Amino acid sequence: MPDFLDICQVDPVDLRAILDQATDMKKRRAGLNRGAIDQDAPLAGMITALIFEKPSTRTRISFDVGVRQLGGQPILLSGGETHLGQTESVSDTARVISRFADLAMIRTFDASSLHEFAVAADIPLINGLTDQSHPCQVLADIMTFEEHRGSIKGKHVTWLGVGSNVCNSFVEAAAQFGFTLTFSGPDDRAPDAAALGFAESHGTKIRHQPDPERAVADADLVVTDVWSSMHDSVADKDALNASLRPFQVNEQLMARTKPETLFMHCLPAHRGEEVTSAVLDGAKSVVFDEAENRLHAQKGILRWCLQV
Ligand code: CP
Ligand code: NVA
Repeated sequence: MPDFLDICQVDPVDLRAILDQATDMKKRRAGLNRGAIDQDAPLAGMITALIFEKPSTRTRISFDVGVRQLGGQPILLSGGETHLGQTESVSDTARVISRFADLAMIRTFDASSLHEFAVAADIPLINGLTDQSHPCQVLADIMTFEEHRGSIKGKHVTWLGVGSNVCNSFVEAAAQFGFTLTFSGPDDRAPDAAALGFAESHGTKIRHQPDPERAVADADLVVTDVWSSMHDSVADKDALNASLRPFQVNEQLMARTKPETLFMHCLPAHRGEEVTSAVLDGAKSVVFDEAENRLHAQKGILRWCLQV
């Protein structure tokens, strides 16, 4: 059964099937209580291990609720509660969890831990964020865009600020879903070379436009993320913020966009840094739809991994 490790590793046909199923499941649940189990209960009798080595609100709740709605049972393991990576190797932990669970999701630091887990485990593994990528987030974002504006194919997405883990997954998604991506941020904070290389090898050129006003002018979607991620150690936060200030998403910048342009942020946001409250809470913002769609998109991913 397949792992869901990165957007670049999943066939575009499967990515589309995951989103189609997610949309269908979301529609069919309309009006039900959040804890009600989906009629077909495809994960009945199955255990999903949800492992968090970093903090989480959305990923934790959406996977827990998603597994329950699919009729399965989640086991949450966080931080220092297990031996993982501290007093036991990642691969030994993966082999043990494979004896108890049918599926695992892990949020970890370097992607090498994700891959070590995936190789050692006998069960499918989902990437719930690493230092390098956040594929579940970006599938939820594409689902959200398409709910509001139709197919993302041929559309223009502009990423502002830092080429974070979420940005890397957007770069891969540009190639897999056929949209244009412009990065507008400092040269030394560009997305990872591996993600850019994947996009280019699939004929998708990621544009770099250092002028944020020009970068957003014909964007259908403007996206940003925190300027320092959970894994970043920042020596001088004031200096970092000052260097990134030109790339803040504020009302003045959003005034340069088309009337139909949407704004997204994976959350949690640092209000007043990478984005202002006026934009986050403004008419173009769909950030809470994105947060909700983590649930629906991940239910599609869970089913795809288990082929149920
Ligand atoms: N967007 C996201 O992954 O949020 P959490 O860190 O709260 O899970
Ligand atoms: N880039 C952020 C995303 C959080 C969901 C981080 O890794 O902290």
